Order: sequence, then C-alpha cells, then structure tokens
Amino acid sequence: MSPAIAVGPSWIIPGQRGVMAVGPIHAGEVVMVMGGPVVDIPTHNQIGSFGEEYGIDISEHFSFCPCNEEELECMPQFFINHSCEPNTGFLDQLQIVALRDITAGEEITYDYAFVLFSNPGNEHRFAVQCRCLSPNCRKRITCDDWRIPELHQKYGRWFQPFLRRRFYNLHPGWADAAALEVPCAVEISEPGKRADQAPRRVYEARHALFKTN
Ligand SMILES: C[S@@+](CC[C@H](N)C(=O)[O-])C[C@H]1O[C@@H](n2cnc3c(N)ncnc32)[C@H](O)[C@@H]1O
Ligand SMILES: [Zn+2]
Repeated sequence: MSPAIAVGPSWIIPGQRGVMAVGPIHAGEVVMVMGGPVVDIPTHNQIGSFGEEYGIDISEHFSFCPCNEEELECMPQFFINHSCEPNTGFLDQLQIVALRDITAGEEITYDYAFVLFSNPGNEHRFAVQCRCLSPNCRKRITCDDWRIPELHQKYGRWFQPFLRRRFYNLHPGWADAAALEVPCAVEISEPGKRADQAPRRVYEARHALFKTN
C-alpha cells in the first residue's frame, strides 16, 4: 500500500471505513497492490453476505474475498468505497492506480463496476443504494453494472482485465486495444492455467496506457 493512503473513517459513508489519501498522489501512481487469499466461486458463494459485501472479482472464476474478520483487517483493498466518479482504477489485475491527481484528505474510490461480475453460474447478488453524491451518480450500484456501455466508453481501460476482454467481445469496434494488452498476474480463465507473469510486460503495458492519456 502506498504511504500516501490509509484506512480510516469514510467521507462518503459516515460511520463506515474507507481508504483515504494522507498525502498527495499523482495521476498514474500505483496506490495499492491487492493481495491475500484468492477464492473460487463456490467458496465465495459459501461465505454469504460477507462475501457479497467485500468480494473483488479478478477473473470469471476467482475473487479476493475475506473469509473472516481477521482476513478482512489484513487486506486494505476491501475498504475502498465505490464512487460513480472514481479517482482510481485497475492498471492490471492487482494494481490500483490513480486516474487523476488526488490531494491529501480525499477518499480513494473506484467504480464497483470495474470488478463486480455477475453471470449465470456465479450467483452474485450485490446491490446497494449509492451514496457517492457525484453529479452523475447512478443511485444504485449492482453486480450487473459491468455491462453498462457508457462505462465502457468512459472508463473501459480501468476495469479488471477479464471484464475488458468481455466487453471487447460485446463491442467489436472498441478502439482501446492497448487496454487488452495488460497481462494478468493470477490465473485468469480456468483453474490450472496461468498467464504470462513477466514483470517487464506489466511495466511496458503501464507505460503504453499513460502515453496515450
Ligand atoms: C468493500 S466494502 C467497503 C468498506 C466499507 N465501507 C466498510 O467500512 O467496511 C463495500 C460496502 O461499503 C458500502 N459502500 C461502498 N461504497 C458505497 C457507496 N458509494 N454508497 C453506499 N454504500 C457504499 C456498501 O455497504 C458496500 O457493501
Ligand atoms: Zn454514485
């Protein structure tokens, strides 16, 4: 986790926790590399409402999901709240990156559409009334939001890579081919298959993304 962020009281949801900037962060800076145990869908579903609240899908088959309070407290990624106007997104499967300059005191957010995946077979049911108060707030966030075409246009390259590949299939004319080049660090498609993990390719892909901004 970058020293410029810390888990603390949320501005967006008073009474709950969030991840706050405690120092200035520049656009393109990695603020957090996600870590911790990865669970498969049957395990995620068994965890129940705790899993619905905190699960972060990183492929069609796997998610980060705390199984208990102890695991939750060790994994700061679970405290990032949603905003319909997010200031971070996913550079690749694990790295959360600033989409703009962020000043100390601001809350770190991403759009939950970047990670929540619903499809026949995975049985996720996440849905909450959004309290982000951004001018373009969707009012309700659900695990079906990854399908919204306007979000693909606006934030396509900041979704989890497995979702980018899905909407590339939905919109064959989608121009942002660079966003599909990002390699995954963890198994991406099926148990037993591993993607290219060469770190050099991660840095090159990152460079390519910011060169076009
Ligand atoms: C991954 S947790 C985030 C951390 C949480 N605030 C906490 O203190 O444990 C996700 C939960 O936070 C709440 N949440 C996050 N962003 C929200 C938003 N924009 N509007 C309303 N609730 C939100 C919802 O209850 C959601 O189920
Ligand atoms: Zn909102």
